[in-house]
Amino acid sequence: QPPPSPLLALCTLCTFLVSEKHAGDQSLWKPYLDILPKAYTCPVCLEPKVVNLFPEPLKAKAEEQRARVQGFFSSSRDFFSSLQPLFSEAVENIFSYSALLWAWCTVNTRAVYMKHGQRKCFSPEPDTYALAPYLDLLNHSPDVQVKAAFNEETRCYEVRTASGCRKHEQVFICYGPHDNQRLLLEYGFVSIQNPHACVYVSADLLVKYLPSTDKQMNKKISILKDHDFIENLTFGWDGPSWRLLTALKLLCLEAE
Ligand SMILES: *[C@@H]1O[C@H](CO)[C@@H](O)[C@H](O)[C@H]1NC(C)=O
Repeated sequence: QPPPSPLLALCTLCTFLVSEKHAGDQSLWKPYLDILPKAYTCPVCLEPKVVNLFPEPLKAKAEEQRARVQGFFSSSRDFFSSLQPLFSEAVENIFSYSALLWAWCTVNTRAVYMKHGQRKCFSPEPDTYALAPYLDLLNHSPDVQVKAAFNEETRCYEVRTASGCRKHEQVFICYGPHDNQRLLLEYGFVSIQNPHACVYVSADLLVKYLPSTDKQMNKKISILKDHDFIENLTFGWDGPSWRLLTALKLLCLEAE
């Protein structure tokens, strides 16, 4: 029994990666597997004592991510057990947590969305993840603009840049308008000159600098929580974000 559909595409790719890697020299995909990183620097791979050094909002996100990967691992176990007839070695050893963590990071750091035709063997979701060998060799720059998509006519994944590139210069793609926290969480690196860089402010920090006499504070915090306004409160190059300002306006409201 495969896991429920949202996880199906992820599970399929992870299963593929782990089993092909296990096949070693026998794998048709060996040239691709050989160029993939052997280890990742995403927070989910870091030791808890390192994660503890992160600023609070990033630490919370990193812990959430770890819980998500562990949940994914435990919910996929039965599925991996069902694959035992295909392997001579015990599947627990092949689909170990560390193997799955490597595969999860591989997919998370380099999978692209792709539409696919409706077929029984695919998940019912219209979009799914796909790995595009060699596309993942392109590094990120926040300063370039590219259009990237699978072209149904040419049957190729095409990347077109709108920014010029000189001969012998490294070509970049843009993974998205991400701040450094997001880059670190999703890809395991930060960008030094990032126009989207920002500082995340936790609700605890805001409360610390507001009058402690406010009896409505807990109520205000719960309103913010209910409306998803407790997360992603940031300061960017242009000052406080709209979300942060809105949260602050509410927190600073005085009782009638
Ligand atoms: C916070 O930002 C992340 C990444 O941009 C996004 O996935 C998430 O949904 C956001 N959370 C809220 C409550 O807006």
